[in-house]
Amino acid sequence: MAEKRTSIHGQWSSRMVFILAATGSAVGLGNIWKFPYITGENGGGTFVLIYLLCIALIGIPIMMAEILLGRRGRQSPINTMAALSAEEHRNPNWVLLGWLGVVAGFLILSYYSVIAGWAMAYVFRTAGGLFTGVTADGVNSIFSDLVSDPEKLLAWHTIFMVMTMIVVARGVKNGLEKAVTFLMPMLFVLLIIVVIYAMSTGYFMDGVRFLFSPGEITGKAVLIAMGHAFFTLSLGMGAIMVYGSYLSEEYSITQASVVIALADTAVALLAGLAIFPIVFANGLEPGAGPGLIFQTLPIAFGHMQGGILVGVLFFLLLVFAAWTSAISLIEPAVAYLVENKGVNRIYASVWIGLLTWLVGLGTVFSFNIWKDRTLSIPYLFEDYTFFDTLDYLTANLMLPLGGLFIALFAAWIMRVESTREELHTYPVIYKVWRFLVRFVTPLAVIVVFLRGIGAI
Ligand code: PFF
Repeated sequence: MAEKRTSIHGQWSSRMVFILAATGSAVGLGNIWKFPYITGENGGGTFVLIYLLCIALIGIPIMMAEILLGRRGRQSPINTMAALSAEEHRNPNWVLLGWLGVVAGFLILSYYSVIAGWAMAYVFRTAGGLFTGVTADGVNSIFSDLVSDPEKLLAWHTIFMVMTMIVVARGVKNGLEKAVTFLMPMLFVLLIIVVIYAMSTGYFMDGVRFLFSPGEITGKAVLIAMGHAFFTLSLGMGAIMVYGSYLSEEYSITQASVVIALADTAVALLAGLAIFPIVFANGLEPGAGPGLIFQTLPIAFGHMQGGILVGVLFFLLLVFAAWTSAISLIEPAVAYLVENKGVNRIYASVWIGLLTWLVGLGTVFSFNIWKDRTLSIPYLFEDYTFFDTLDYLTANLMLPLGGLFIALFAAWIMRVESTREELHTYPVIYKVWRFLVRFVTPLAVIVVFLRGIGAI
């Protein structure tokens, strides 16, 4: 048995706290903002089915691999990869996988924070009664007023980044744990309230049909569905790895992974069930893009009884969900600085937060002064803004690539004894997991990727 390490950053105080924290990382803007709009853009049913398959066949096995690596390495993803490749007497360049994750997390947070800022702005717009009796045109102009004003976006982006830095600076026990134990249960309750409203619209079944009845699908949509499976489960960049590094030895990684994936999927489907009936009840457009929830839901909130309260709660929920995810996006980088540069958490959080904030300006401007500055990369995308480009590169490229290498490392580089000891699960579960990460997951990621860019 290898000598057990301990984390210098502390440990989760219970299994439940780990599950809440990892679910807090997984459940975020991805479930409530992104899942509905990409489902709307990609035609519904088949897209959802592929996304669900990716969660089961790629997401859960990679999540187990990530937690396993994190718990065995007990450090930031960069140092974990260095320690594990040394322990297995393998190429030290595996450390680059840790770096890929840190960079991906940093880039994702830079735009994530801007979108979270929209949600914060909407808490106040809804509370102020701005949407009461609003028309579709009215709601569109409120949305474009917000996104076309770089100063407003900048202010909200700044506030969100400060909120994130404060929780991260407080550390594992005082910051992360406190935030998630309170925020996660609250989020479930709020979401269910909105679904109950959606049931009363008379269009609930239209929403269900849209989400679950199959239709046409393109190779690019399949890649987006897979990329989203990584994004929504926070996989491929070390966020779950670093949370795994604070997990105590005796807990079952398999069980935790299944619970986290189920909770995350449940929230995404609930968000879809909350949003699409409201979209159809009001004759709105499911493929409206990143503005979907901001351009459609306020109409419903503006016309339903108690709409101000439901609307405020809904956007508040979105901010909470984004906050618990943002924390995990920055944690790998902060943990690394604390470990390698000997700085304290406050210093590390502030510096990384500032840098992220700066890159976030690119996303702030993507919706206004840089709206027409677009980029095309042959085979990958055409006419993408700074925000579109970051979103594409991180979700569809960096996360699947990170996930692929995590699977390869766990299945082909680590010795069987190491992974078996760390997972300590039933032999049959171990065999299935190993088969999936050895063959199915890498092959699926490669095929979906090549088809997505039209190479096969
Ligand atoms: N899973 C988060 C969401 O669905 O909103 C986003 C995210 C968090 C992605 C952490 C990646 C990550 F490491």
